[in-house]
Amino acid sequence: MPVTVDANLGGSAEAISASELAEIGLRYEVDGAIATITLDRPDKRNAQTFATWSALARIGEHIPDQVRIVVVKGEGPSFSAGIDLRMFTPEGVPGQGSFVSAASLEETTFERRIADAQRGFLWLRRPDIVSIAAVHGHAIGAGFQLALACDLRVVADDVKFCMKEPALGLVPDLTGTKPLVELVGLPRAIELCLTARVVGAEEAVRLGLAELAVPAGELAQAVQDLAGALLATDRGAATATKRLLQGALGRSLEEQAIAERREQIVRIRTLFASG
Ligand code: ACO
Repeated sequence: MPVTVDANLGGSAEAISASELAEIGLRYEVDGAIATITLDRPDKRNAQTFATWSALARIGEHIPDQVRIVVVKGEGPSFSAGIDLRMFTPEGVPGQGSFVSAASLEETTFERRIADAQRGFLWLRRPDIVSIAAVHGHAIGAGFQLALACDLRVVADDVKFCMKEPALGLVPDLTGTKPLVELVGLPRAIELCLTARVVGAEEAVRLGLAELAVPAGELAQAVQDLAGALLATDRGAATATKRLLQGALGRSLEEQAIAERREQIVRIRTLFASG
C-alpha cells in the first residue's frame, strides 16, 4: 500500500513535509521500489513555479535507497501547462518573484537561480533509478521538459506536447533541449521548438518522444506494467547498463567498448567471484 511520506528521510535541515508539498502543488508517495511524484494543482493545470522545481530537487536528494522506479504524473486534465504564467507579470508568484524582477539580477546570481531550477530535473537521470513520465493532456513548455527529463515516457492518446518557450521569447532551459535532440534529431527539434506546434500521441511514438501510447483510461496500468517489467531485472545490472547506455553517445566505438569491458568485469566479479 502506498504511503505519503515527508521528503525528509535523510533528516536534512532542508526537509520538506507532505503539507508543504501540498501547498506547492505536489504529492510524493513511496510504495516499495516505486516512488510516485504527482503534480497536483489541477485547477491551474499543474502550472510549475520555482517552488515546484526546488521541491523536486529536494525529493530527489532524499529518495529512499529501495526506490528503483520514479513515476512522474499529473492530476486533472493536464500533465502540466508549463511555467506559472504569473512569472511573466510584475507581481510574479508570491514569495518567488517574477521574470520582471529576475531581469535585473546580477549574472552569477541569475545563473545560479536557473541552475537551482534545473536541479529539480537532472536527478531523474540517475543511473540507479528509472524515471517514467506518465503524460496525458497538455504537456507544455516546462511540462514538456519535465517529461523529457524522465528516462521513459508513456502517453495517453489525448497527450499534447508543445515546446512553447521560443514563442514566448524564451529558450527551453529546464534541461529539455538535449534529450529532445537525442530523441527526435536536430532538424525535428528545431522545427518543434521554433513553431511551438502540438505533437499528439501517435506522432510522439513515431518520433521517439514516447515509448508507448495507450487509451487515457489505461495509462496508470500501462505504467504499472512497465515498472513491473523493469523491476524484474537485477538492480546492479540495470544500473550498470543504464550508465553504459547513457555514456554511449558521448564516446567513440573504441571508448564504448572499453566502458563495456569495465562494467562487465564488475558484474562478473559480483556474480561469480567466490570467497
Ligand atoms: N500558469 C498559470 N495558470 C494557468 C496556466 C499556467 N501556465 N495554465 C492554465 N492556468 C490556469 C488558467 O488561468 C485557469 O485558471 P482560472 O480557472 O483561475 O481562470 C485554469 O488554469 C484553467 O485553465 P484553462 O485555460 O481554462 O484550461 P483549458 O483546459 O481550457 O486549457 C491549456 C488548458 C491549453 C493548458 C491553457 O490553460 C493554456 O494554454 N495555458 C498556458 C500554457 C502556457 O503558455 N504555458 C507556458 C509555457 S512556457 C514554459 O513553460 C517555460
